[in-house]
Amino acid sequence: MDISSQLLQWYRSNRRDFPWRTTKNPYKIWLSEIILQQTRTSQGLDYYLKFTDTFPKIEHLASAKETRVLKLWQGLGYYSRARNLHATAQYVQDELQGIFPKSYEDLIKLKGIGPYTAAAISSICFKEVKAAVDGNVYRVLSRIFDIDTAINSTEGIKIFQKLADELICKKEPGDYNQALMDLGATTCKPKNPLCDVCPLQSKCLAKKLRIVEQRPVKTKKHKVKNRFLNYYCVEHHAQFYMKKRTENDIWKNLYDFPLSEADCAKEDFNQVELKALEKIIGENTFTLEKARRYQHKLTHQKLHINVYHLKSKNEIKKGHFIKVNPREAMEFPVPKPIEKFFKELFNGLDFER
Ligand code: ADE
Repeated sequence: MDISSQLLQWYRSNRRDFPWRTTKNPYKIWLSEIILQQTRTSQGLDYYLKFTDTFPKIEHLASAKETRVLKLWQGLGYYSRARNLHATAQYVQDELQGIFPKSYEDLIKLKGIGPYTAAAISSICFKEVKAAVDGNVYRVLSRIFDIDTAINSTEGIKIFQKLADELICKKEPGDYNQALMDLGATTCKPKNPLCDVCPLQSKCLAKKLRIVEQRPVKTKKHKVKNRFLNYYCVEHHAQFYMKKRTENDIWKNLYDFPLSEADCAKEDFNQVELKALEKIIGENTFTLEKARRYQHKLTHQKLHINVYHLKSKNEIKKGHFIKVNPREAMEFPVPKPIEKFFKELFNGLDFER
């Protein structure tokens, strides 16, 4: 039996049940695929249910405020994915009469939809013969065929796509794609793979050579840059000063506090931080209530974040900040370190009133 037949046979009795596997609605498959690029299926499931509950149809997502979409996405990271999701829903609604494109060629034209997502949607919903190559697929194929070309190199991307395209089952491309993903997620795992129950074990070159855990090969491309951020959570009469970020970076359109950046790690709030803060919001009298430190890892950066909770004697006039109470603050989409800070700060406050 060839690899794809063996794989599909295994899939029929071992496939995982997910709500996105009970539909061929391209809008829902699109949502699931964008969410699952960000996270494991166990966490992705909650987000998928939240999104499909809140926005059951593309028109609901299209007409939502971006802040609401970002809030629902909060915790997943890569907020550009959520912004693109929203922009694409609006585009489909306004320019394509609400009809989601049906072919790989048209799907890939949409913002936020790349080769992987276009292949997943077109194969699952429309039986188009396109291989969707994600991290699981790289791992499975690199092991079966003992490929040592780095999966994050231009050459590697081409080699794996070509191989997956050659193997794909033309009759059931959607199931073939999802079978490879499931095999990678449940059996051909990064660590401690379950080779003994793998349906492809007799064909696996890496198993034969006992180098399973050495595949796939990935090159480290970027040096991680350390950055030191100081957030000032300024409170005046039980209200907080926040601002919508406009910088074109990962946290664009999320809300945060007055912010300064330092060259190196600092322990305390002292004259340097006070000066930096007063430059942003003007002179005042502050008392330090609380200081917290968080580390936040991004793809190419490690953020070392201090959050200083300060009470100000007088109203803040400078800097165009909005003043919000705890309940409003919790409704804004915020970066993960601020979410953690709020959880601690507002823990025990009753928001039901
Ligand atoms: N990861 C990404 N897409 C998936 C899918 N359709 N099923 C399971 N895991 C996935």
